[in-house]
Formats: sequence, C-alpha cells, structure tokens
Amino acid sequence: MHAIGSVKAKSMAEVNLLARLPKGGKRNINARATAKTNEHIRISREYGELYFDGPREYGYGGYRYDGRWVPIAEDMIAHFDLAPGDRVLDVGCAKGFLVKDFMKACPGIEAFGLDISRYALMHCEPETVGRLHLGTATDLPFPDGAFKAAISLNTIHNFERNDAIIALKELQRVSHGRAFVQVDSYRTPEQKALFEEWVLTAKFHDYPDGWIKLFEEAGYTGDYYWTIIE
Ligand SMILES: C[S@@+](CC[C@H](N)C(=O)[O-])C[C@H]1O[C@@H](n2cnc3c(N)ncnc32)[C@H](O)[C@@H]1O
Repeated sequence: MHAIGSVKAKSMAEVNLLARLPKGGKRNINARATAKTNEHIRISREYGELYFDGPREYGYGGYRYDGRWVPIAEDMIAHFDLAPGDRVLDVGCAKGFLVKDFMKACPGIEAFGLDISRYALMHCEPETVGRLHLGTATDLPFPDGAFKAAISLNTIHNFERNDAIIALKELQRVSHGRAFVQVDSYRTPEQKALFEEWVLTAKFHDYPDGWIKLFEEAGYTGDYYWTIIE
C-alpha cells in the first residue's frame, strides 16, 4: 500500500490526501467566465442533472466513474488506519465514487456516503446502493462517533460561513475528530481572481488562514487540504 509522508499526522494538520488524484485537463476559465450567468449559478446549486451531467457551464459536464478515487481511498485508509469492519463516511459523496473505491481498496470496510442531491443518489454506482443517505451536511443523521473516519471533499465551501461551521461541527461529532476536509482556496491574489471567475456553487471561500480560523471556531480537529485552481 502506498504510504504518504503524513501518516500519523497530529490532529488538525494540512495534508494532501488527494495527491494521487489525476490532474483534470486545464479548465477553460475564460469560456466559463464569459458564459457564466446568475442563472447558471442558480441551477448548479440545485445539484441536479444539469450540475452533474449537463453542459460544462452548469458544473461537471459529465460526472462519470473511472476508478480515479482508488489511490485516494488507499491513502485515506493508511492515514486513518482503517481496516475491514471499520465505518467511514463521505459527506457530499455525489454518486458514491469514493464510497465504491473505499470498498475496492479495502474489501470488508463499511463505507457510507451522504449527499443532498437526489439526482446523484439515483444515479449512484450499483455497489453503493443502500449505503448512500439523502441529507444535508449540517444535520448528519448518525450517532456521535459513529464512524472511525469522516471525509468531506469539495462540499463544505458550498455553505455560507455560519453553516460551514455547523457542517464541520457535525463532521467532528460523528468522527470524534478523525476527519479530513478539502475545500476551495487560493494562496495568491492571482489564484483568487482565477477562482472567482470559475466558481459556481461555493458560497464561502478564503485563503488557508481564513479557513483555519473557521476550523478553530468550529472546534474541528481533523485534517484538511485545499482545492486550488492554477
Ligand atoms: C463539488 S461536488 C463534490 C463531489 C465529490 N465529493 C467529489 O469530490 O467528487 C459537491 C457535492 O456536495 C453536495 N452537496 C451540496 N450541498 C450539500 C449539503 N448541504 N449537504 C450534503 N451534500 C451537499 C453536492 O450535491 C455535490 O455532490
């Protein structure tokens, strides 16, 4: 199994658990900036068919399984020391790709997901049927400490700041702080400008320092990393 440098990292550490995710093709920022209207933003935030599988102006432009999350699942399994029988939760799981790949990477692991999109759950990977819950990250329908680890990728920034804090508190609650979030961010004014041209769904975003302040306010002690457009 691939071991990453940050295994056994202390609580609340910056760690790139998506390092082995293939880089997508260069995003056509200019095309979206020209095309983007309030109507595109409104529709993308419905997280329906257009967002996942419609034209690129509304979101993914086709959200299809290709196995790219298997190495990520392997790194998360190593990072959180997960074994068959352990429960892991993916908040904002969409069609369940990471949930499926957790089960591929570690047969016998109990992987679950939660998402607000009925469309995504209705088009989930067959292996994940019955494992994906319809709900919101701000009100997780699970007992305290129900999961050995909880993950949320590219989802928490879809809330306004106060609700992002609530969602992080929920992630913390169900995992007792054994968690990982990845959120939209930027390190330079140039990256911020690029991001603002591209963004559709995110309502709160900030430089890493701003996010870390928010994590502290939420009492979040899990790990984190940034999605940065370059
Ligand atoms: C950018 S996608 C990320 C999907 C997946 N985690 C990934 O990285 O490929 C954001 C996901 O968050 C979900 N989402 C948006 N608001 C949510 C909420 N309030 N609670 C749970 N999921 C939400 C959307 O339906 C969508 O599946």
